[in-house]
Amino acid sequence: MNFARMTGVFMIKKYIFGKPFDTEAVFANIPECNDALPYFEVDATEGLKFTLKLGKEDAVYGLGEASRGINKRGYVYDSFCSDDPNHTEATRSLYGAHSFLIIENSGKPFGVFFDCPSKITFDIGFTRKDYLEVSTQNPDINVYIIEGDSHYSITESFRKAIGRSYIPPMWAFGYTQSRWSYMDKDTVREVVRKHKEANLPLDAVYLDIDYMESYKDFTVNEDTFGDLEAFAKEMKEQNIRLVPIIDAGVKIEKGYDIYEEGVDNGYFCTDKDGNPFEACVWPGMTHFPDFLNPEARRWFGLKYKFLTDKGIEGFWNDMNEPAIFFSRKSVTDTEKKIREYAKEELTLDGFNDLKHFLSSRQNNMEDYESFYHNTPQGRYRHIDLHNLYGYNMTRSASEALSEIEPDKRILLFSRASYIGMHRYGGIWTGDNHAWWSHILNEIRVLPSLNMCGFLYIGADIGGFGCDTSRDLMLRWLSLGIFTPLMRNHSALGTRLQECYRFEDTEDFRHILELRYRLIPYLYSEYMKAALEDKMLFKPLAFEYPDDEIARHTEDQLLVGNEIMIAPVYTQNAIGRYVYLPEDMTAIRMSGGEITEKPYVKGHHFIEIPENEVVFFIRKGKCIPFAESAKNTSEIDFTSLSLLGDGNEYLLYTDDGIGKDFDNPSNRKILKK
Ligand code: GLC
Repeated sequence: MNFARMTGVFMIKKYIFGKPFDTEAVFANIPECNDALPYFEVDATEGLKFTLKLGKEDAVYGLGEASRGINKRGYVYDSFCSDDPNHTEATRSLYGAHSFLIIENSGKPFGVFFDCPSKITFDIGFTRKDYLEVSTQNPDINVYIIEGDSHYSITESFRKAIGRSYIPPMWAFGYTQSRWSYMDKDTVREVVRKHKEANLPLDAVYLDIDYMESYKDFTVNEDTFGDLEAFAKEMKEQNIRLVPIIDAGVKIEKGYDIYEEGVDNGYFCTDKDGNPFEACVWPGMTHFPDFLNPEARRWFGLKYKFLTDKGIEGFWNDMNEPAIFFSRKSVTDTEKKIREYAKEELTLDGFNDLKHFLSSRQNNMEDYESFYHNTPQGRYRHIDLHNLYGYNMTRSASEALSEIEPDKRILLFSRASYIGMHRYGGIWTGDNHAWWSHILNEIRVLPSLNMCGFLYIGADIGGFGCDTSRDLMLRWLSLGIFTPLMRNHSALGTRLQECYRFEDTEDFRHILELRYRLIPYLYSEYMKAALEDKMLFKPLAFEYPDDEIARHTEDQLLVGNEIMIAPVYTQNAIGRYVYLPEDMTAIRMSGGEITEKPYVKGHHFIEIPENEVVFFIRKGKCIPFAESAKNTSEIDFTSLSLLGDGNEYLLYTDDGIGKDFDNPSNRKILKK
């Protein structure tokens, strides 16, 4: 592909340091630039260190799934896929490793992608307030510099280089329900029935690890989920899809076909002596498929057929950082430690040492250093390719699913990811908590993920860990109605949080119905963003770069080209201050009724009771609005009204399942 022609006026250059592993994150064929790397000073004393002086007002955007603000300045982040359920301000790395940044550079912004599969540290004005320091442990890395005249054009050039974002089936835009502990078919049936009885829309129910036999991939527990095929059919007759989880670790068990085949063919990651590496995850001791080995990747991917043959049309890939509770070596070390301490009475220091030792067995760096991948580029230590594991697990599924179901979109998303994986699936943002701050976290991560190509995204609505509350749930749903993946998911042992569990269920119903009324808009904007390499969620700073207040507003977002959202993310609030960077029409959903009210540019306190949703349509624009529906299959795309003071809207529609995305007949202009 001729990249220069593809991107028109925009520029992207590739600089090679050492002998980097080809991550295949960048799709376009970009030749090496032999000039010195611009903007940065490079120090190669230990790994590589790239240093750049930041202008006083320069914001730094990007890093995909990272904690803190949309503007990343003022803190330090690691790019290292991490299974860490404590998403606090101090969390330096989460499940995804997305090392793309836009640096404002005193009015001459540029983008930079550090394409390196091992850990990178981004110190963005943390140690020295005016310096960006990027350090890699690995001296072998590709660095891409992307030039452009705006944040948008830089992002678009980058997105064109990394390839088209994943497009899910339309039903995956519906409201979906999940929980770790739907233990059998009757529980799932009850969840579906209760949604129907309460008139709550629903499109899918997720199956967590409980559907499997002893948590073994590509098995079904015959006692509790027997005849899954008939069950999937029964659900589909009610327009409900079942979406099972697939975990990375394969249980070590004699006679289990996946284990036997993996061992016989050498498809698992190995220790230094070439024996399959052993780590404990949900099924107990497991081996990790070597997703960096194309043969193993194809082998594992084709196993999804076991479930597609039963009528399954969607999957979520989990524990693929890969998460390690403890390794075989940790078992030996722990037994030794305990034996030592058992010799004498335990002191406070001893107790603390033991406690620290045990907790540090989980996701331990020594383990990540001790296993290997067999790749076409050679044998590599896992630690040097760590960030590619979840990416290639999802690639494995996606490539095989395109063989199994060539003409059909399959829902697919992952926990761990790297740039490049956005072509194969979406992501959910992992094990968050039922905390108000995590609503704000989600608002901030959405545009950063879009910059890195991830469009099909969403958080566990209501919070995965700890007990949710009714008001938190309502407020989170009010944000969730705008995210492509809209899934209520929670952990085993927490308060039950399906919408029908709460008092005055009609409040929940109104919010969910609004989602379905907005799907023609959300789907159109999603498809335009995916097909044109644009962002769906945009920071105000990107759209109004000359407006100082907009530039510093990090709790409001543009969703598509027409609307702005300003979600409430504090408890007991009666509303919130909203900054309108231009005149806009507020759309209020109250008791299921929709009203429009114009507002002028500026600051406003907008009252938003917890059972109402307010969003804003930009001046001169309008959005399509459907009649209420209880399922995506019921949405009537032929009788849409237009909300807002604009006169026309470019609607994108298709059959929602096939792959004829670029057919011009999918675009229709709706006029008032
Ligand atoms: C992990 C996943 C979570 C899932 C649980 C059990 O914590 O992130 O979503 O429910 O494992 O499978």
